Amino acid sequence: MNKIEELKEILKNSKKIVCFTGAGVSTESGIKDFRGKDGISKYTDTPIEILISRPYYETHTKEFFDYYRKCFNCIDKEPNITHKFIKKLQEDGKLLGVITQNVDGLDKKAGIDNVYEIHGSIYNNHCTKCGKSYPPEAVFNTDDIPYCECGGIIKPDVVLYGESLPMDAVMNADRIVDEADTLIVLGTSLVVYPAAGYVDSFHGDKLVIINYDSTPYDYMADLVINDKLSNVISKLWYNE
Ligand code: OAD
Repeated sequence: MNKIEELKEILKNSKKIVCFTGAGVSTESGIKDFRGKDGISKYTDTPIEILISRPYYETHTKEFFDYYRKCFNCIDKEPNITHKFIKKLQEDGKLLGVITQNVDGLDKKAGIDNVYEIHGSIYNNHCTKCGKSYPPEAVFNTDDIPYCECGGIIKPDVVLYGESLPMDAVMNADRIVDEADTLIVLGTSLVVYPAAGYVDSFHGDKLVIINYDSTPYDYMADLVINDKLSNVISKLWYNE
């Protein structure tokens, strides 16, 4: 059986699928990933783990926002075939939910209901002083540090290196991984923790990894496909 046939068979036999996604899911919507062949880490001398960290935000606030705006402004982007494939799993009653490391909001834009954004979202922004919430434009439509009317800094609820993950999303992600019969990992290098640990804690039947590059967890998977996501998904019965 070739790998696509194997994947079709797994999808057919699965009843409780969890998709665990990363930046590679959104590259075909025109958003750069971090560590892929054209990822944003290729364009800076300073590691991204520093540029999008809490200490950098605190000590180099203006530079942090300049970099954040350059890399994370994707409010005009649209879901692609992979988001639509996940939505189709939902329509077929097979999807428990999506655990995503992405902050671009494209899963929700695609109409997927149970999305757990464990690295936060560019769509949630709060004043660090008074707590007032702001739309993403408040951060993206300025060249400066975004300030609230009270004088506090408006900070995106995007999890920076050195910050903890949002408790709600993590609790829900733990719950659905525990219940899943199939975990499909899509478009992530699986090098960032604790997120990548979901692969370790999965104890269902089938682990599938679909990613262009190989990952440190490939040896654990029942099926690994190292290809472009649109190539894989367009060959399934879930077509656009
Ligand atoms: P990475 O950039 O580390 O990994 C993306 C993976 O997707 C790479 O291995 C690519 O080969 C693969 N890829 C890219 N486009 C693809 C396509 N069209 N089809 C198939 N594979 C494709 O992104 P993440 O694993 O999501 O954290 O990175 C994890 C975290 O690191 C991010 O959430 C972010 C970053 O620091 C925060 O912002 C907190």
